[in-house]
Amino acid sequence: MVTTTSDPSETARVGEQLAAELTPGTVLAIQGDLGAGKTCFVQGLARGLGFRGAVTSPTFTLIHEYRGGRLPLYHIDLYRLTDPQQAVAIGVEEYFDAGGVTVIEWPERIASLLPAHTRWVEIAITGPTTRQLTIR
Ligand SMILES: Nc1ncnc2c1ncn2[C@@H]1O[C@H](COP(=O)(O)OP(=O)(O)OP(=O)(O)O)[C@@H](O)[C@H]1O
Ligand SMILES: [Mg+2]
Repeated sequence: MVTTTSDPSETARVGEQLAAELTPGTVLAIQGDLGAGKTCFVQGLARGLGFRGAVTSPTFTLIHEYRGGRLPLYHIDLYRLTDPQQAVAIGVEEYFDAGGVTVIEWPERIASLLPAHTRWVEIAITGPTTRQLTIR
């Protein structure tokens, strides 16, 4: 599925709509350059799962967990990861079958660890406020 958005709220809404189809154990790899809108998309996803609080980038902590929605949401950001073994050490793989939805920014950092059923979302910057989202 390919869709274009023209502001951050539209990108969040695409995430919000995708949330309805997510089941326990879903792993979503979200690819895109710095500032593409990955976190914005995850904010919508959290809202779509029914989580009502603030969703902030886990860039420094690597993982944020959000509970209280239809399913737990594990939001992982691997931008600062230098070695996949570091992700293994912090237990990234344990989230994949923990009964919630795992979303990963910069998933290419741990490509070999991702389950085969991982769904991919690509966000391309097409202009100052336009984005093309591909969900597969
Ligand atoms: N159509 C759009 N969709 C999403 N974000 C947009 C759009 N147009 C402009 N923006 C801006 O792009 C930025 C997206 O930031 P966001 O933190 O979501 O990116 P990110 O991909 O998570 O970056 P990072 O790799 O640094 O984590 C925000 O400043 C947002 O306002
Ligand atoms: Mg981000």
